Amino acid sequence: MIAADLDHPDSREPDTGEPVGSSGRSRIEVEHPGWHLLGRSLWEQRRGLAAGVGIGLLWALGKVSVPQLTKLGIDRGIEGSGSLVFWSALVVAAGIVAGIFTGWRRWLAFRESRWIETRLRERIFDHIVRLHIGFHDVMQTGQLMSRAASDLQQVQAFVVMIPITLSNLAMVIAVVVLLLVSQPVLALVALAPLPFVSVLASRFSRRIHPAVLAVQQEQAQLATVVEESVSGIRVIKGFGAEVVQSAKVRAEAEDIRRVSMDAAKIRSRFLPALDLLPALGLVAVLGIGGHRVMDGEMTIGDLVKFNAYITMLIWPLRNLAMTVALAQRASVALTRVHEVLSTRNEISELAHPKPLPHSADGALGRVTFDHVSFTFPGRDEPVIEDLSVNIEPGAAVAIVGATGSGKSTLVRLLARFYDVDEGSIRIDGVDVRDVALADLRGAVGIVFEDTFLFNDTVASNIAFARPDASRADIERAARLAGADEFVSALPQGYDTVIGERGFSLSGGQRQRIAIARAIASNPRILVLDDATSAVDPSKEHEIREAMRTVMKDRTTLIIAHRTGTIALAERVIFIDEGRVTAEGEHEELMRTCERYRQVLAAWVDREETESTTMDVAGDDVGGLRTVDVGLIDHDVLRSEGDVG
Ligand SMILES: Nc1ncnc2c1ncn2[C@@H]1O[C@H](COP(=O)(O)OP(=O)(O)OP(=O)(O)O)[C@@H](O)[C@H]1O
Ligand SMILES: [Mg+2]
Repeated sequence: MIAADLDHPDSREPDTGEPVGSSGRSRIEVEHPGWHLLGRSLWEQRRGLAAGVGIGLLWALGKVSVPQLTKLGIDRGIEGSGSLVFWSALVVAAGIVAGIFTGWRRWLAFRESRWIETRLRERIFDHIVRLHIGFHDVMQTGQLMSRAASDLQQVQAFVVMIPITLSNLAMVIAVVVLLLVSQPVLALVALAPLPFVSVLASRFSRRIHPAVLAVQQEQAQLATVVEESVSGIRVIKGFGAEVVQSAKVRAEAEDIRRVSMDAAKIRSRFLPALDLLPALGLVAVLGIGGHRVMDGEMTIGDLVKFNAYITMLIWPLRNLAMTVALAQRASVALTRVHEVLSTRNEISELAHPKPLPHSADGALGRVTFDHVSFTFPGRDEPVIEDLSVNIEPGAAVAIVGATGSGKSTLVRLLARFYDVDEGSIRIDGVDVRDVALADLRGAVGIVFEDTFLFNDTVASNIAFARPDASRADIERAARLAGADEFVSALPQGYDTVIGERGFSLSGGQRQRIAIARAIASNPRILVLDDATSAVDPSKEHEIREAMRTVMKDRTTLIIAHRTGTIALAERVIFIDEGRVTAEGEHEELMRTCERYRQVLAAWVDREETESTTMDVAGDDVGGLRTVDVGLIDHDVLRSEGDVG
């Protein structure tokens, strides 16, 4: 927790000293988009914050009374004829008031700041999960994690200071006025160092700002590398690349150390001066005030009061300074948060989306690609070019093509992860851009090429899209996907928690659970993107049998390269470089299309190489399969084989 104890002199970070006088900067910061965000959040919590400020003012009142009452105690209780006990009792009472209200102020400050942090976190997460896939393609996970975690903590650390700082400010003003009224000359001398503190402070903030920014950037980068190392641990170990990855982490950690030290150097250069200046005020009080007491122009009580007040100013001034420094960090953090929140979702919904047609006769699930072209953002070459395909309701179609030919892209366009650049994609005659996203994604069930399972029970993973599914539905889906047998054999059956990303299962088992997940969601269009590639061919035929049942009442698109799987479909669509170059039955294409034969042969080669790689690296190399296989030159392998 960053903001613990910030209003206490022994705070973890009392060294960000930058006293008052940064009004010039804060005017610029108000124009900052991040501050609008903060302004809105503060407005939502205005009641609690106002209460915090009110309580803080009472605290300031108690705090300011103590030296004044002490002075009266000395002048009247000791020097005069009054009762020392009476004045002492008043001092104690003022101290108790200050004590109670300091606790109350802090409690309110924390409560409100935690609310703001929590609400912003909810907003940022809601926004992130809704943002289009294109955003996630380019955004680093570590960046997002750090925005949702540490950036919001920085904001919280600043917000918690608002009531504290405002009441400190009130106290400073009250003290300065009191001093000026009672002893104008002495007050002026004692307070004279303050303007210099301001000059120093603004210079300090100019220097520290970029350093703080750099630290935050480096922290986000480290988070990315660490996240990758953990989620890619199998690839790292598979390639024996622990040392390489450790070196990357070390380099990032070293970067953080370096930029943090830069910031620390700036702080340590400015802080001594910031500490020394108020002390000069104390010397002035002692020197000038002492003489005045001796000359009878001032009472001892006044001198003690002055001394107490100047001492009392030191901490709030440092505290104000800290708030300015925290405000800078919050400003950086808010800018980064705002950047995410202001990213527009490029996959937008119509204000009044059209419903997908529902009909009782079951003839649903027509898919039409109508002269579709698509280029990934930042790429020059189109991935899909003027592609037209019509798939009849309830048909089963295999999509075949070389690796990188655009098969998965086609599926992503259908589910509207991206929008087509030209042409249109229609489901049952309705453009996918006109349908509510929830309806669209409910109508299209996809089993992706890389299986992602959640850290949850098998049953919850299968019922992911339909949390209300009954156990019977779940088991039926698992049976159809050929998963029932091995799931039942797991220690707790369907209630077994499968590890992060389902790593305790084999690749083929994970795929079967993913297929069950898609079946359970009961989509009108089922898409299997290479969904049985990790399933052993000897097991695959069992799934194929079950798949026939699943495919009976829905349109099915099967991206496949094994002839057995392709045979599930009535028709094959052959895609080459983003275009449909051939269409027809598998046997027919085998006879008539040279390129089709080539591509399928290449896939056979690939699978052979793949199984060799799998044997070498163990069976849990989900990432490896897609990463390394494409890099192997099959012709070379073949010719070497020939020589051998
Ligand atoms: N998010 C992305 N951003 C930019 N380019 C991409 C992105 N995803 C895929 N591509 C590119 O689009 C092309 C087609 O990719 P796609 O994933 O559709 O191929 P595929 O036919 O499914 O291949 P495979 O059989 O290997 O899965 C490839 O050249 C790929 O590099
Ligand atoms: Mg693909």
